[in-house]
Amino acid sequence: MDYIRFGDSGLKVSRLCFGTWHLPVKHENFRYDVDKDLSIKIIKKAYDLGINFFDTANVYNGSIYPENAGLSEIILGDALKDYERESIVISTKFMGKMANFNNASGLSKKYLLWQIKESLKRLKTDYVDILHMHRPDPETPIEETVSAFKIINDDSKALYFGESYFHYNDIKDIAAMFKALNMKLLSMQEPYNLIERDIESEKFDISRNYGMGIMAYIPLAQGILTDKYLNNNSETSRASFVPELNDRYLSDKKNIKILSDLNEYAKGKGVKLAQLALAWMLKKAEMKKVSVVPIIGATKLEQLEDDINALEIKLTDNDIIDIESIASEFIVNFNSQYNRIRHAVF
Ligand SMILES: NC(=O)c1ccc[n+]([C@@H]2O[C@H](COP(=O)([O-])OP(=O)(O)OC[C@H]3O[C@@H](n4cnc5c(N)ncnc54)[C@H](OP(=O)(O)O)[C@@H]3O)[C@@H](O)[C@H]2O)c1
Repeated sequence: MDYIRFGDSGLKVSRLCFGTWHLPVKHENFRYDVDKDLSIKIIKKAYDLGINFFDTANVYNGSIYPENAGLSEIILGDALKDYERESIVISTKFMGKMANFNNASGLSKKYLLWQIKESLKRLKTDYVDILHMHRPDPETPIEETVSAFKIINDDSKALYFGESYFHYNDIKDIAAMFKALNMKLLSMQEPYNLIERDIESEKFDISRNYGMGIMAYIPLAQGILTDKYLNNNSETSRASFVPELNDRYLSDKKNIKILSDLNEYAKGKGVKLAQLALAWMLKKAEMKKVSVVPIIGATKLEQLEDDINALEIKLTDNDIIDIESIASEFIVNFNSQYNRIRHAVF
């Protein structure tokens, strides 16, 4: 496993982060409930193979049931509790709905100071390494959010901070607010993969100019950048129980042909499409001189091993041109829309 400094910080993280949004599920009685034992096995295997960087969020439930919010943090905490805490970098995110009462979502001081207590209990730890704003909260003044993070920082309950899916101009504003308080807005969590490359313009610039690391989420487009949807082996795969995937990626017939061409290209290199897609991202980051760590997800031990082995693949600049030219016509049925932050009136 390779390790890099994340953004302009001293924090050393593995070249891949392991994410817990979707965990392996057991499909029984029309429900897709999390397979906790297998989840723990996969997380431990990730650690044993050298991954020291783990991502979660307070709302993650490991499957599709919002009433189970918190379950991913609990499982991650259970999986990692036997390892040396100081050898692990934990990232989490707050903003989503955690209960059915007022102040149970958003980025208010009340919610954030409540959730840091609860999250640390679920994760069975004293602190998280990186705490993200999961999405903007247009109803709460950003000054209130930052003041709550300052308390969390001063209590050493989080060491670094981050945003996820904010407008690039808002990221610049918030980074300056953190700097004025001697704190670091270190991390940007953004969607990024071979067929969804919006962040290559403004957000790559922010990463370089503000010393922020990018945690690239959905690096395989939620499993689309694999051969599973070509080979009809998708029965237990995410698209079988998350309809959004079909609408977003598979509604255009041309896309299947492109996936098939990418798959042939990967075979020609003697690797799997999932591995090619990850190797593309790592090479692209190197070429663009940005600090990008893909957050992988895996619901089988073999997937995890494949994804880690992608680190061995060395692509050339010409490979990148070829791969991007095959992928360029892929149509993703999704429009980025950013909620904007609000500043306090005084
Ligand atoms: N900040 C945010 O708003 C945000 C949003 C989304 C995600 N995230 C983070 O990003 C993480 C990763 O997201 P993601 O799970 O969508 O990532 P992804 O890498 O795009 O998709 C992971 C899925 O791809 C399939 N897969 C992975 N490796 C494979 C392999 N070698 N061969 C075949 N299939 C393979 C599996 O799908 P099947 O289970 O279908 O087999 C797996 O569940 C999340 O866990 C979360 O931590 C953050």
